[in-house]
Amino acid sequence: MFDVMKIRQDFPMFKNNPGLIYFDSAATAFKPQPVIDAVTDFYTRHTVNTHVGDYDLSHYVSGLFEETRETLRRFLNARDAHEIVFTNGATSALNLAAYGWGAKHLKEGDVILLTEAEHASNVLPWFKVTEMTGAKVEYIPLENDGTLTVENFRKAMHEKVKLVSVASVTNVLGYVVPVKEIAKIAHEYGAVVVVDGAQSVPHVKIDVQDLDCDFLAFSAHKMCAPGGSGVLYGKKELLEDTDPLMVGGGSNARFDLCGNLKLKDVPWKFEAGTPNSEGVLGMKAAAEYLMDIGMEEIEEYTKELNAYFVEKMQQLDNVILYNPKATAGIVTFNVKGIFAQDTASYLNTQHIAVRSGNHCAKLLLNVIGTSETVRASLYFYNTKEEIDQFVEVIKGTTIEKCIGVIL
Ligand SMILES: Cc1ncc(COP(=O)(O)O)c(C=O)c1O
Repeated sequence: MFDVMKIRQDFPMFKNNPGLIYFDSAATAFKPQPVIDAVTDFYTRHTVNTHVGDYDLSHYVSGLFEETRETLRRFLNARDAHEIVFTNGATSALNLAAYGWGAKHLKEGDVILLTEAEHASNVLPWFKVTEMTGAKVEYIPLENDGTLTVENFRKAMHEKVKLVSVASVTNVLGYVVPVKEIAKIAHEYGAVVVVDGAQSVPHVKIDVQDLDCDFLAFSAHKMCAPGGSGVLYGKKELLEDTDPLMVGGGSNARFDLCGNLKLKDVPWKFEAGTPNSEGVLGMKAAAEYLMDIGMEEIEEYTKELNAYFVEKMQQLDNVILYNPKATAGIVTFNVKGIFAQDTASYLNTQHIAVRSGNHCAKLLLNVIGTSETVRASLYFYNTKEEIDQFVEVIKGTTIEKCIGVIL
């Protein structure tokens, strides 16, 4: 039985910041005690390197490190734990897919399909790939409200498209993208599908086999894991045909004086250098914590909170709401006549944390007509009471109050 008040007790941030309304979980999520314990455990009981020490402590940490792949495999329902590559977030995972697979396989005349709703981390690496290969970027047209339909995707798809990369939940409008249908159509054309799961993996049950995506990138710190932790999932045969972003210690099987190099197998060939062991062990605890609560329950509760939030915001005359159809916990709006950053600064004085600006999705301006918005993003530890308080504050937000904060 989902009990949000009980869940909140797992998060010391609430106890240590009484009265704070944290609506910025799309940026990063609070960490529950089991995750903090996993990191503390590493620092206090077994702070040693993984994979390289010939002693019990190192064997123990290396074991936990590799077990994390199995935990993440279960979390995503991947076929094989070796399909889990540890990265330091969605950005490095997307860069790995772009440089490692894209730059290796794409060529002049090939097309990479994106949308204008993508985060910079799912646009800029692909532009780099176009510079390196002569491939070009095209955009799947979005509906006027910023949603992506299967119909529009089908129209945008053609023989030259060799790669499609889309967020399964967009980070400004929070719309759920029909990734499964997209993957099915893209595969009919032989294109590879990369999913940016930064905003979906924390909130919805993801089954990579069911989605049939080829790569899935996400930031574990947005799903309660420590900062600097993330994953690139890839189908094993594709990962085997992907170059590493970095080479160095830990990723090579052997090399010689002439530079002849034999890389390790997947996934270790991608993980050169001393890994972020504490981040990885914390990610294991985070995935276990979320699975214990149940991703279906988290998804259900987030939908309920989101619907409640939208209904309340729609009742306000002073608000422009940009994504009334969103379901994944992101509510994006402006208070009429007030610059987004000024609203956010005023909310800060009311102990409310939100993000304002373009949220790294600078192309979306072309779709929603403004580059500056306030984004309130929820997670399963938020409550309807917090939403009520938030809405009351927004109701009373005026230009005079915001200017008062600036002066
Ligand atoms: C949709 C999306 N993709 C990628 C990223 C990049 O994530 P990170 O900064 O953790 O690498 C974010 C971060 O907000 C995001 O929302």
